[in-house]
Amino acid sequence: MRLLALDYGADIVYCEELIDLKMLQCKRVVNEALSTVDFVAPDDRVVFRTCEREQSKVVFQMGTSDAERALAVARLVENDVAGIDVNMGCPKEYSTKGGMGAALLSDPDKIEKILSTLVKGTRRPVTCKIRILPSLEDTLSLVKRIERTGIAAIAVHGRKREERPQHPVSCEAIKAIAETLSIPVIANGGSHDHIQGYLDIEDFRRATAASSVMVARAAMWNPSIFLREGPRPLEEVMQKYIRYAVQYDNHYTNTKYCLCQMLREQLESPQGRLLHAAQSSQEICEAFGLGAFYEETTRDLDARRAKLLARSPEEAEEPAEDTSGIIKMAIKFDRRAYSPQITPKMCLLEWCRREKLAQPVYETVQRPLDRLFSSVVTVAERKYQSTLWDKSKKLAEQAAAIVCLRSQGLPEGRLGEESPSLHKRKREALDQDPGDPTTQEPAVPGELCKKPFVALAGGQESPLEGW
Ligand SMILES: Cc1cc2nc3c(=O)[nH]c(=O)nc-3n(C[C@H](O)[C@H](O)[C@H](O)COP(=O)(O)O)c2cc1C
Repeated sequence: MRLLALDYGADIVYCEELIDLKMLQCKRVVNEALSTVDFVAPDDRVVFRTCEREQSKVVFQMGTSDAERALAVARLVENDVAGIDVNMGCPKEYSTKGGMGAALLSDPDKIEKILSTLVKGTRRPVTCKIRILPSLEDTLSLVKRIERTGIAAIAVHGRKREERPQHPVSCEAIKAIAETLSIPVIANGGSHDHIQGYLDIEDFRRATAASSVMVARAAMWNPSIFLREGPRPLEEVMQKYIRYAVQYDNHYTNTKYCLCQMLREQLESPQGRLLHAAQSSQEICEAFGLGAFYEETTRDLDARRAKLLARSPEEAEEPAEDTSGIIKMAIKFDRRAYSPQITPKMCLLEWCRREKLAQPVYETVQRPLDRLFSSVVTVAERKYQSTLWDKSKKLAEQAAAIVCLRSQGLPEGRLGEESPSLHKRKREALDQDPGDPTTQEPAVPGELCKKPFVALAGGQESPLEGW
């Protein structure tokens, strides 16, 4: 949905609210087969998937009630996104009961702590999204306090916490906020009543005196609303959407939800019925005449995955330490490439003994989805892991041992093993140049919002009601 909105002309897109505690369990994984960066939970669910195409456009929105957790999440994702947003507008119980979302609106001290911690601690622009309070006076004093934290922009959904989409949005309240603050104000809440087409977006912006507009539902119903020349037919938009969904391996339930939002009144049509019955991405594609596209794309993807798995060690990545602190390489243990009596695990054990280090400790997990194994080996308080999953625990442990040996330039027992000095030299080069943080791009307050329109995309499995 985000890519589609960008294709059709949105300037910035937001991910759906992602909860800080969930994100903090995630590992950042470069998904070479899909060319994406994935934030993956321990149960292997992809919580946030992004790609280069949206890197300078995507705002990461989090649900949080704690400044330190918020900052940890911001640091986890900041290299892959354009901005960090805190959701303070969600009235749903799952958000408010943890003190997040709209619950924050009644705790200005906490808001201030979270936002100023983020502004100081992350190198991306920080924004927040609020709803209006029962009184305009309180709303204005809250937003002034929020502005003082140094955030780059504020999105305002012009409804009160208990109001639902059927209640009118208050353009006047947004306008009063926009006239009070100097930072950009992003007006939100206009879908349906005010925004039905492209030109309405500018009318809504003017009515609210805001600097830009966030469009949620109207963009969900037809993401081509951002096209200056007018919307594209839904059939075409849905086809484009499905292609992206397959290409990026979107979960079929989410794809189905988003398509249902686009079909809306046509859910009872033959196509709508087929969509309703679909229980997989393939069935969704078939309902839209994209069966051949599905076959072809998944075949290509499988081939790419197989090629990555079959890479020789020389072709595998250089060792790279991810944000979890684990040193990773794409390594597979191929028994045929090693001397019959020697395994990488033996080499590693031998080396630890020689160096008077504690024995290597292996921790292996099995992925429920495909029953493959991955092992992490700890040596001298550092952890090593292959990014590739294996058919057995033994193979996974050998792969982890190779990652450890190879990243330190140690012999691993390979037949005709070249001098380890090459690896050692590479390791030394890495150690000498850990990346100079002072060369990192600074956050530019206001930069995020200089363009006029904003789309909210992504998607949740939650129903429309209540937001
Ligand atoms: C299905 C759905 C999911 C939503 N998820 C979020 C969310 O994750 N974060 C957020 O700030 N707002 C979320 N919203 C609220 C919208 O961002 C927006 O505030 C609201 O729909 C009003 O804007 P609109 O009139 O343009 O739709 C969601 C809305 C809907 C309908």
